[in-house]
Amino acid sequence: MTAAPEGGPSAGQPNAGQYWDPVRYRAEAGFVATLGLPVVEWLAPVPGERVLDLGCGEGALTAKLAALGCVVTGVDASPDQIAIARAEGLDAHVVDGHALSFESEFDAVFSNAALHWMKRDPGAVVAGVARALKPGGRFVAEMGGDGNVATLRGALHAELRAREVDPAPVDPWYFPTPAAYEAHLAAAGFEVTRMEHFARPTSLPGDVLGWLATFAECFTNALPATDRAAALEAVRARVEADLRDPATGGWQADYVRLRLAARKVG
Ligand code: BEZ
Repeated sequence: MTAAPEGGPSAGQPNAGQYWDPVRYRAEAGFVATLGLPVVEWLAPVPGERVLDLGCGEGALTAKLAALGCVVTGVDASPDQIAIARAEGLDAHVVDGHALSFESEFDAVFSNAALHWMKRDPGAVVAGVARALKPGGRFVAEMGGDGNVATLRGALHAELRAREVDPAPVDPWYFPTPAAYEAHLAAAGFEVTRMEHFARPTSLPGDVLGWLATFAECFTNALPATDRAAALEAVRARVEADLRDPATGGWQADYVRLRLAARKVG
């Protein structure tokens, strides 16, 4: 096995190796914000309250929270996504979720489909969320939970191993069990008010190759550029029997969610 290339997640950079192409993201991942609407319901936003949207991406749900009357700040590690959010008139900033510097400013922190990219030190992320909240403030979030995209992840790992690359150091995803995330929350001074861990099979807007191109760059970038297209075709072949409906030809990814609401004690 060859060593992970410099720039994998272990390099300490936020999602090094993963580029968020805004046009591709809109085409392949528009469902992320739509399927995040139940998390907005869990937040039960109150007009006028200050909300931090952690990992806001291009700001689809930030805009939704603003439309519901919240005073929202969005943060994300991707400069390209933040540029789009700002062009939409949102208060959005390039910030690594591991390094939140807000102090007792927000009534709530909201996060959809972002925390699983903050793998380097999840405890530091949760501690930063706690610091950002006013006493009694709430943290409402959804992320990939234990078992998320297991078929896709397993195929990516198998394909890299078949090409003599160790996938472990370049795997960017953190999909915790409820108990593991609850431990981070408790350590940061949160009381969990609600937590659910559930399968949510997710229909993809197109071919699984589009999903892989959008979300799995950390894996493919570990391969020589000339091998990448063939590797993705091979991953597609590995998952086809499990994730493609032979009748319709449609693809469904094996998403598992961890949804939570917690209150900062004190
Ligand atoms: C997720 O939202 O669970 C997810 C999306 C892409 C890659 C990994 C996880």
